[in-house]
Amino acid sequence: MQTSLKITTSIQNANLQFVLADSSSKFDDLALSKTELAHLKKRIKAEEKWTEFGTIESKLVVALIEKTEDLNWDIEQVRKVGNRACGQANHEKATSISVTNKSQLENAALAFAEGTMLGNYEFRKYKTGKDAGNSLKSVLIEKSSTTKTAIAKLQATVDGTLTARDLINEPLSYLTAPQLSKEIRALGKKCGFRVEVMNKAKIASMKMGGLLSVNRGSVDPPTFNIMEWKPAKSRNKKPLVLVGKGVVYDTGGLSLKPTQSSMDFMKSDMSGAAAVIGAMCAVSSLKLPVHVIGLIPATDNRPGVDAYVPGDVITISNGKTVEVLNTDAEGRLILADALSYAQKLKPELVIDLATLTGAAARGVGKEAMVSFFKTDTETARQLKASGQRVYERMIEMPLWKEYGDYIQSDIADIKNVGGPTAGAITAAKFLEHFTDYPWVHLDIAGMAFLQTKASYRGKNGTGVGVRLLVDFLSEY
Ligand code: BES
Ligand code: ZN
Ligand code: ZN
Repeated sequence: MQTSLKITTSIQNANLQFVLADSSSKFDDLALSKTELAHLKKRIKAEEKWTEFGTIESKLVVALIEKTEDLNWDIEQVRKVGNRACGQANHEKATSISVTNKSQLENAALAFAEGTMLGNYEFRKYKTGKDAGNSLKSVLIEKSSTTKTAIAKLQATVDGTLTARDLINEPLSYLTAPQLSKEIRALGKKCGFRVEVMNKAKIASMKMGGLLSVNRGSVDPPTFNIMEWKPAKSRNKKPLVLVGKGVVYDTGGLSLKPTQSSMDFMKSDMSGAAAVIGAMCAVSSLKLPVHVIGLIPATDNRPGVDAYVPGDVITISNGKTVEVLNTDAEGRLILADALSYAQKLKPELVIDLATLTGAAARGVGKEAMVSFFKTDTETARQLKASGQRVYERMIEMPLWKEYGDYIQSDIADIKNVGGPTAGAITAAKFLEHFTDYPWVHLDIAGMAFLQTKASYRGKNGTGVGVRLLVDFLSEY
């Protein structure tokens, strides 16, 4: 169940109340006695971060907010305070939390609520025990600390992120490629975007050799999913296209991954797809004035009697041939077909998100995604700025020509692996072959799925990319 978010006239309407404060804050309107007030002032002077008052039924916490030169960092700390508050609420079996902002940091109450709601996420679908899970059901923001529009935007963004997390956390035993399409159809109805699903026959008629080849070992057919949000009045004439890698499970295929640990979390290899779906939900729920199209090639990747083999030469839908030297480098093959399809849409900009390489994850860990830009500098600047704001940050790597040499094939146009070094870059260079438009590639392999809890990002599927895309598209 998702946490509800509302405006309230008084923070006293919740059993756990939070005041965000700094050294300049005044507390006269809080229901505190003289001695309590004196105690609070002393604690704030001593820079104590967390001061609690009250009884079990009604508790007030004053959390001290820091202000540095880096506004984005400050806001991120408040999200983490929100997550800590969520932990306390559930520990104390509170059902509601309220917050008011008495600090000088603008929008702190919203950031707090964001951290609380994201931190409160649980995936309980397969739990059969009596434990009902988290007690916290709603977050209230005091009305002077926010606006109705801001709340609607936050709720839609959080909902989109949690939808993405649910999809990522679903195992292959439920979420096959055809099932993913069913989920997309249902979300399209719920949120208001148009959905078109191409089945295997249609995919074959489109000659999507990448998607068909990766799917050959599978018992389930592939799908190619098209989502569209087209408002009557949009800021862009040509569509903005989002592409997500939808590998619902990656065994590596015949180039099998070692079973120990490296395969355990490969249900998350559709995290790029999940980010695109979550963003489409938020954008259409908010009726943003931008024309956006989402593309998701979906299949699992596994060995089978008819599986594609290392050495095969396959043809992508744009006619380019690829020598497959490792069937575990499958993401780029299905993305090649999707990026080629995007070409027909005459896009203004294409952004793809993919759990593409272990190299990206090893290179930057969970703190950033690896990004590649073939755009004007202003578009790049705006996307990076969104990344800083929502703290889904990116580290740029280059698309230098030299790296293109790494994927030259003896017998085909290119090969699908580039050797032991620069794995994230050679994967991007591969994708570049299928783009003839402004394009951004985001390798989210390190951020998509966490094996230990990282504050409000949670454990398991993080839904990374949704908050980034919604911020970017709102500002577009
Ligand atoms: N899905 C993986 C990448 C991945 C690894 C995502 C770890 C998240 C965590 C991708 O399909 C893959 O297997 N890539 C290979 C490419 C190699 C064979 C060229 C890799 O990175 O090892
Ligand atoms: Zn793989
Ligand atoms: Zn993969």
